[in-house]
Amino acid sequence: MTVVIAAINGKGGAGKTTVLMNIAGEYALRGGSVAMIDMDARNNLMKWWTDCQEKDAQPEGIEVYSHKTARGLERWMHEQRGAFDHVLIDTPGEDTSIVDPVIASSDLVISPIQPSKREVLGAIDSFENVVRVNETLDRNCRHGVLRTRITVTVRHTELYRKIRPIIEDKVGTYLFRAEVFERNVYKDIHNGIGTLQMQEVTDAIAKARRETQTLVEEVDQLLRGELTAGRAA
Ligand SMILES: Nc1ncnc2c1ncn2[C@@H]1O[C@H](COP(=O)(O)OP(=O)(O)O)[C@@H](O)[C@H]1O
Ligand SMILES: [Mg+2]
Repeated sequence: MTVVIAAINGKGGAGKTTVLMNIAGEYALRGGSVAMIDMDARNNLMKWWTDCQEKDAQPEGIEVYSHKTARGLERWMHEQRGAFDHVLIDTPGEDTSIVDPVIASSDLVISPIQPSKREVLGAIDSFENVVRVNETLDRNCRHGVLRTRITVTVRHTELYRKIRPIIEDKVGTYLFRAEVFERNVYKDIHNGIGTLQMQEVTDAIAKARRETQTLVEEVDQLLRGELTAGRAA
């Protein structure tokens, strides 16, 4: 069965593309076949992909496609999704008409946030969209909020501490235990040198890889229904 994961947060640029690249690299490393779909007009994912090709660093097991419309996505899903173990959909950082069709195709929506009010609100919007699409289509797409670009300083802020009570108790969606830290190696990956998992294992790479493995394990648990949203978790 193909698993479809989308990164959506209509307000912000906290790391949707980055986190999908890292998840894709992890699934590919495990031997899975991964399709990534770039639905963002800025084409960051597709640029990364062509840069990787030019530098002869194309990740094995990963294909990247570009579809900017709901129609294009639906057709691709119909014709090609069955050929892949994982499909990862990258979306623009603003609310667009593609959000509902993306949710309608997904098993899990991840909303990355930096601890900023705007991004937290964007993640809540994304959750509400997931709930609405699920009700309309009688589906069970899951939703999780992922803290990204975390630093030691950020962890001491008031907003950081409020994230869990807001997301789990008030809103009632899932907050990933795994967090993505601010790391230069994640920035480097954007330069078309392949995936995180393809890099020579330095201390910095090893830390980032452990962080990514933990995240992917949690993603898989969430998809298997082993984790529940809110207090019950
Ligand atoms: N965990 C991280 N650590 C350091 N830099 C990051 C991290 N996540 C994202 N970035 C950087 O932040 C910028 C925006 O990230 P990106 O993944 O493109 O966000 P989005 O796709 O949501 O717009 C990029 O320059 C990226 O390299
Ligand atoms: Mg992006």
